Amino acid sequence: KRIKNAEFIISNTDFRKSPKTDLAEYAFIGRSNVGKSSLINMLTDRKNLAKTSSRPGKTQLINHFLMDKKWYLVDLPGYGYAKVSKKTNENWGKMISDYLINRENLVCVFVLIDSRLPPQKADVEFLDFVGKKGLPLALIFTKADKQSINKTQKNIAVFKKHMLGSWEEFPPFFISSAEKKSGKEEILGFIDQMNSA
Ligand code: GTP
Ligand code: MG
Repeated sequence: KRIKNAEFIISNTDFRKSPKTDLAEYAFIGRSNVGKSSLINMLTDRKNLAKTSSRPGKTQLINHFLMDKKWYLVDLPGYGYAKVSKKTNENWGKMISDYLINRENLVCVFVLIDSRLPPQKADVEFLDFVGKKGLPLALIFTKADKQSINKTQKNIAVFKKHMLGSWEEFPPFFISSAEKKSGKEEILGFIDQMNSA
């Protein structure tokens, strides 16, 4: 699977200024530095479509990209970055929650989880919010190249067990590496399926 045409459309702090459209939309979110922007570049075979950085907090806006003129992909700023002020965090929370709750064409929220870590408080809290709002959800475990497959599988099992403490079922999930370009077929296949459903 390949995205032939990936086009940056607009960046916003206000979801109301997002493109007016009936096309399906998929959002990518997760802790700062988890690899959202890198994943988007990997999915689109582009090096710098979404801006990446080794410093957390690179993405600050709601970024809309149009894929093959058929669907929107959205790169969101990361949560759980301790070094920003409380006020900035509150603004972030409102910007993102307004977008997630009100964006009518949003088909699925992909929550990215660092495959190397035990369940993180910020992730658990964000997933609680997603669950409360009943938003459609899939998980992507990122940076799998940084450890053995075994270790990744173990961490996913721990995450699953933790999540099933409060969720009735574990959502669809994917394992990715932007470095090794893995997970792309599966994630694009999943999006394709939803687009033709
Ligand atoms: P914010 O926009 O700050 O919230 O971060 P982000 O989630 O968009 O992360 P970004 O894609 O900017 O990546 C953060 C850092 O992790 C960069 O240094 C990337 O090169 C690195 N990185 C991202 N994905 C991978 C991966 O799959 N493997 C490895 N080894 N490094 C990765
Ligand atoms: Mg980013």
